[in-house]
Formats: sequence, C-alpha cells, structure tokens
Amino acid sequence: MAKEPKDEPPTEKKKRFFTRRKFLYTAIAGAFADAFFIEPNISSFTHEVVRVPFLPPSLNHLKIVQLSDFHYKPNKDQGLMESVIKKVNDLEPDLILLTGDYVDGHDPDIDPLLIHLAQLKSKHGIIACMGNHDGWVNDGSVYRKKFEDIGITFLINENIKLTIKDVDLYIAATDFIWKGKPDPVATLKGIPANAPLITLVHEPDYFDTMLEHRDHHLQLSGHTHGGQCRVPFINFAPKKVRYGKNYIHGVYKKQDSSVFVSKGVGTTGIRVRFSCFPEIAVLSLVG
Ligand SMILES: [Fe+2]
Repeated sequence: MAKEPKDEPPTEKKKRFFTRRKFLYTAIAGAFADAFFIEPNISSFTHEVVRVPFLPPSLNHLKIVQLSDFHYKPNKDQGLMESVIKKVNDLEPDLILLTGDYVDGHDPDIDPLLIHLAQLKSKHGIIACMGNHDGWVNDGSVYRKKFEDIGITFLINENIKLTIKDVDLYIAATDFIWKGKPDPVATLKGIPANAPLITLVHEPDYFDTMLEHRDHHLQLSGHTHGGQCRVPFINFAPKKVRYGKNYIHGVYKKQDSSVFVSKGVGTTGIRVRFSCFPEIAVLSLVG
C-alpha cells in the first residue's frame, strides 16, 4: 500500500503563503482606500430615541436633527455638505441643533459653510452653539452675527424658550469649554425647575459639571467625532481628546439626565475616518 505524504509539496506551501500575503495586502489597501477616500465623503444616519424629562405628551416624538463638527474645508467638503443638507431637508425635521466646530482653524471658511447651512429647513428653527475650534479663531459675537444673518439662533451662555404646540421647550447653550468661558448659571438662568430642557455643550465631558447645576435635562454634544477612526467589530475608539474622554459617542445616562454625543460631519487633522462615518443624528424625543 502506498504511503500518504506527511507534508504537502513545498510549492503548495509557497502558493498558500503568497495567497495569504496577497489577501492581507488587499485588505490593507482596501481599508486605506475606505478611510481616506470613501468614508469621509459619505454621511450616515444615526437614529436614537432620547428622553427629555418633563416633556409633555404632545411633544413626544418631536424630530430633532443634530449636526456637529463640520470642520469645513471648502475645497474638499463641498460634496459632503451638499448631500448632508439634502438628506436633512428630506427628513423634514421639527428642529435642527448645531453643536459647534464649524471651521478647522481657518476662519474665512465659515462663510462658504454658511452658504450650505442657510439652505437647511426646519419647522421650528435652527439653534447653534460654539465649538472650541471656532472660539480659537474668532470671537463668539462674530459668529452670532453671521449665523443670525442667515436665520440661525446662536446661543452663548444663554437660553431660549420655544413654544411648540402650545407647550414650552427650553434650549440652552454654554460657551465652548476648552479655553472658553462657560457659565452654567447664566446658561440656565430663568428656566423653571420642571421645564423640558435641551442643552447644547460642544465638549461632552462638561455633562458632569452641568449636572451639578441642573438635573433633568438632555445634553447634546460633539467634539469627539466618535473617535474619527474606530476599531471595527469591537467598536473601540482609541484616540481620546481633551474634554471628550468619558463620553465618546451615543447616549449616556446619569441621574435623571442624558447626554448624546455625535460623531460629527467633518474631520480634523488628517481627512480620515474609519469605521466611523460622518453622522446625521436623528433624535426622537420622549418624555
Ligand atoms: Fe471637532
């Protein structure tokens, strides 16, 4: 009886080695192409049901769209912004909230971004707050003027009362945290203790400070970009940013409050995203 060979021939082994190596190289090239050329250009939706304490039943399922962290670069992000604006308008949101970082360190880029933002449509208005990148290159009053010129309310350490379906809903916003001048007392001034409240705070880790001043609210933040590059399958974000280390992406609850952190739209530093698409956050409110 003929003996079976113990080992496969060296040529077969070599072939398999090259096939594995080819697969590895293809996977790396694919990931590289995705991170640099595909993901930063394609926006995705995140749908969340978020709780706002004291929200009256008539405002249940109010549809809010949150956009954050544009870091707008006119020569690279135009197509992305056009698609984001179209997708948001198609949703017919009740309210649009913008949570900062409109530019990426080049102040004149705000004007071409505002041309896009001016096309947003919302039933009950658009409200915006400052981000750290905005505050590092310009004064808040300049942004306020520019945003209000296109019909967007801009809040810095203050709040506004909206009346929707005969019910009051408060929106408050701090100044940016990282080298800014946040003032929670001024931000919350005049808001009744049992009123439904959404706060806009660019940097999410400030949630813990806001809780010292006010429980019972929903905070919306950005700043982290969800990590911008995440490890697939385990969904881990290795890169942490100052004031964005504890709350990275999604909903977190503490006491009787919640914070939702957006992955943002744009990119900072290298224009790269991996396993972390630009985000249009669609938030459905419940009481
Ligand atoms: Fe940012």
